Amino acid sequence: MSIISGKKILIGVTAGIAAYKTAFLVRLLVKAGAEVKVVMTPAAKDFITPLTLSTLSKNEVFSSFTKEEDENQQWNNHVELGLWADLMLIAPATANSLSKMASGNSDNFLLATYLSAKCPVYFAPAMDLDMYQHPSTKDSFQKLISYGNIMIPAGTGELASGLSGEGRMAEPEEILKFIENHISESLPLRNKKILITAGPTYEAIDPVRFIGNHSSGKMGYELAKAAAIMGAEVVLISGPTHLTDPGFGIEVIRVKSAQEMYDAAHEHFEKMDAAIASAAVSDYRPKNVATQKIKKNSENLILELQKNPDILASLGERKKEQILIGFALETENEEENALGKLKRKKLDFIVLNSLKDEGAGFQKETNKISILFKGGEKKDFALKPKKQVANDIIKELIGLFHA
Ligand code: C5P
Repeated sequence: MSIISGKKILIGVTAGIAAYKTAFLVRLLVKAGAEVKVVMTPAAKDFITPLTLSTLSKNEVFSSFTKEEDENQQWNNHVELGLWADLMLIAPATANSLSKMASGNSDNFLLATYLSAKCPVYFAPAMDLDMYQHPSTKDSFQKLISYGNIMIPAGTGELASGLSGEGRMAEPEEILKFIENHISESLPLRNKKILITAGPTYEAIDPVRFIGNHSSGKMGYELAKAAAIMGAEVVLISGPTHLTDPGFGIEVIRVKSAQEMYDAAHEHFEKMDAAIASAAVSDYRPKNVATQKIKKNSENLILELQKNPDILASLGERKKEQILIGFALETENEEENALGKLKRKKLDFIVLNSLKDEGAGFQKETNKISILFKGGEKKDFALKPKKQVANDIIKELIGLFHA
């Protein structure tokens, strides 16, 4: 899945012949999962029609401060549009528009939107080779870069003028790659490998029965996604759940029993920078697994159970530089019990969720947590959807990496 999936991208089209390529660019971005809106300078409409771009982006295209067809002269809100975007991309960016952007000129809707945008702004210049080399154009580039805008350099080749040289707008595929790389390079968990355990474990009694629990795996899957979105390479070891693979390049290893989860966790742990144990591992398993289905011949059936290995504690014993995070689900003496686990399992922090809190815990969409750190600090969080809880936890992990 592309890193731009789900992002709101505002494309600014200025009046250059390369605007025809913007149609392909819009299509590529939409296919990569982005939500795309387009703004154009009035002159850009001579090169490509708003209809083409609105059809491809599936959104209205804006090119003036007022809605042209509207007699009451309702205005298009450049501020709202600028703030809507997660990312703005001016492609093609002509020498004229770049110079206006560099000097703060806002005499058209695109320029006003550019000035209102708080998000990262990329620009892909497109012009003839002599214009590209002109000192005033280079000044614009430098100024825009000094404002924090990101330049996607033009390529070299045949130009619309018939001349050959530097000035061709980067190809749509190159622009997409450039943005994807740029975003992933600046992600806080880039180059970090994170192991996450999730879901329940099933401990076989006989070929058809098992001991399990109600864990849905949602929390762990959300954690895996949140970490991957922040740039981490994630290995998700999942017990049996109804959830589909989360995507985002996450490696999913599906296991059934605690022993299988233990083996998979230890196989990967050495290469990891952090591990988060969110699985609800069965504490016990049947001592003997019947090879045939157990018959109901007697009134009582006694199953002898034996303790499963504590995966997290065993990772705590092995850990070198790794950050280790665990969960505690308590019904009494919550904090005291959680702190005991934090110490015993050699964790950096433990996420405490109480079954007492309505809306929190197994099979729920929401969770309410406190985080207890090994240094003694405690942070309480409000009841939130599990996705946001995952973001909170990953944010704390990022804090530890950068501490
Ligand atoms: O001791 P308790 O089961 O309450 O600890 C919960 C934490 O330890 C969770 O992070 C859970 O994923 C982990 N754990 C484990 N292996 C076990 C039991 C718990 O990794 N056998």
